[in-house]
Amino acid sequence: MEVVIVPDAATGGEIVAEAMAQLLRRKPDALLGVATGSTPLPVYRALAAKVGAGEVQVDRARVCQLDEYVGLPAGHPESYRSVLLREVVEPLGLSPDAFLGPDGAAQDIPAACQAYDAALSAAGGVDLQLLGIGTDGHIGFNEPGSSLASRTRIKTLTEQTRVDNARFFDGDIEQVPHHVITQGIGTILEARHLVLLATGEGKAEAVAQTVEGPVAAIVPASALQLHPHATVVVDEAAASEL
Ligand code: GLP
Repeated sequence: MEVVIVPDAATGGEIVAEAMAQLLRRKPDALLGVATGSTPLPVYRALAAKVGAGEVQVDRARVCQLDEYVGLPAGHPESYRSVLLREVVEPLGLSPDAFLGPDGAAQDIPAACQAYDAALSAAGGVDLQLLGIGTDGHIGFNEPGSSLASRTRIKTLTEQTRVDNARFFDGDIEQVPHHVITQGIGTILEARHLVLLATGEGKAEAVAQTVEGPVAAIVPASALQLHPHATVVVDEAAASEL
């Protein structure tokens, strides 16, 4: 595992966007796994700036989702599909057809999960998966205790994650769904390159456990230690307990 400590969140965003741009220059139809949350937003802005400046072409690029809420109506502004269309697909000028994601509104959620894993494989697999990290060490929505071999499946959110994410739902925890679909840890580990971005002091403990702790299901992000090409990009605040 490679750990890159940067002075601030903007620099972290720039470094990760440049890694994505380098991949796209080498492989124009690369499949980029994108994450939600506030941490990756500087990455998407920096990548869109590179596209605008003509430094990289994205007309053949494809993007895919890491996780999704279950039960939000289609088009809900806080469904992860809506968020990623708004923050990634539209600013990059990609077609919505270039965007893969699980169907969080499906009647048969287990079938939708299986279909999504199959779609990722059929697309040739994820070339670079960007990950954030929850304060409890979760990646995607793989909460502590998730099997390190897990596949895309339905999960129940912990109270802590619902509290953390209530800010996207007018601060009202009652509006935060209880269930989600997430790529499993085993699914995530199949991406060719994993890039975990963490910024701010609130992530320092989770980052220390991820990088220096034992590989354990109680800290899902520690599974990155098992991956042959994992990069952890952290600002100084998030690195403060390393
Ligand atoms: C959610 C997402 C994760 C993300 C996490 C942290 O739980 N499912 O993929 O890493 O939020 O979000 P933030 O970057 O806003 O702290």
